[in-house]
Amino acid sequence: MEKQCVLVTGGAGYIGSHTAVELIAAGYDVVIADDLSNSDLRAVEGVRRITGVEVPFEQVDCCDREALGRLFRQYRFDSVIHFAASKAVGESVHEPLKYYRNNLTSFLNVVELMRATGRPNIVFSSSCTVYGEADAQPVTERTPRKPATSPYGNTKQMCEDVLRDAVAAYEGLRGIALRYFNPIGAHPSALIGEQPQGMPQNLVPYVTQTAAGIRECLSIFGDDYPTPDGSNIRDYIDVTDLARAHVAAIRRMCGGARRADYEVFNIGTGRGVSVLELVRRFEQVNGVKVNHRIVGRREGDIVAIWADPTLANEVLGWRAERTLDQTLASAWAWQKHLCGME
Ligand code: UFG
Repeated sequence: MEKQCVLVTGGAGYIGSHTAVELIAAGYDVVIADDLSNSDLRAVEGVRRITGVEVPFEQVDCCDREALGRLFRQYRFDSVIHFAASKAVGESVHEPLKYYRNNLTSFLNVVELMRATGRPNIVFSSSCTVYGEADAQPVTERTPRKPATSPYGNTKQMCEDVLRDAVAAYEGLRGIALRYFNPIGAHPSALIGEQPQGMPQNLVPYVTQTAAGIRECLSIFGDDYPTPDGSNIRDYIDVTDLARAHVAAIRRMCGGARRADYEVFNIGTGRGVSVLELVRRFEQVNGVKVNHRIVGRREGDIVAIWADPTLANEVLGWRAERTLDQTLASAWAWQKHLCGME
């Protein structure tokens, strides 16, 4: 049987590169498209080294309809995993138009071209941010979405709605939105991982950079929340586990069984971990110190959120496998690789 091919937009990014690796390991052909605006060709090199496959790479901005159209004509793929998007929550508040322009235009271009050229399957990178401050934890896919708290979150909600409506209207188009919880860690080979440009905005890159001495001190945003230790609670999902969820979603759409044309899945571990707990575990597992201090709350942070991943467990046959300790060890191994410490 001919191999199925998957276009991975944003495939030079953090989650995209890990997903490319898992797709190839599962027997798919992969084409990576990325505009390299917030990513690095070294990630593509890393994918090639891990898999031993000379994965095709095209530098394309998905907002450029002409260029994207050429890519669609050049390669034969049935499925698209669409990662390409701007993702800094804070920046989106200050530059909302950039976020609406980038995230909506690129998504519309991809879906329109899929329809025009008869490509049936798309996986969309959504986020637990669509739930906002939910009334109860853990959240299931039936938990009502609350109004988004940032333009970034708004774009995730909007793209989910566009996808739902498009698959309802157009015969032959299928879509799965994966709502990621907090992706962390790096590939066990330490050849690919997260590479924030400038000051890290997310917790784990800040932790690893502090442990490596690049940052002086980690600020923990609040210890007076109504949680057991006062710090926020999140569901930290290993990036390789998250990558495998995409393979499961592609498999489901490529299989012949009858199913709903638009589906949504939570991709998390089902376990909530506090910020203080995460920092403590990182120190213990890796035998390093992370200087930290408690500061005031960060605007827009929700108190606590973690996933009920039952639907993905049952329907996709996917579950998170790596332990928090393994993931925190991989994050540190990657940081050391980046710093040339080992
Ligand atoms: N935190 C700190 N200090 C830091 C950074 C973060 O204490 O220097 C805390 C935050 O207050 C929060 C937790 O660590 O309680 C996690 O924060 P992140 O910034 O890593 O992630 P968020 O939970 O804020 O999630 C956001 C978006 C998601 C997106 C995710 C990853 O809401 O949609 O970032 O980009 F997927």
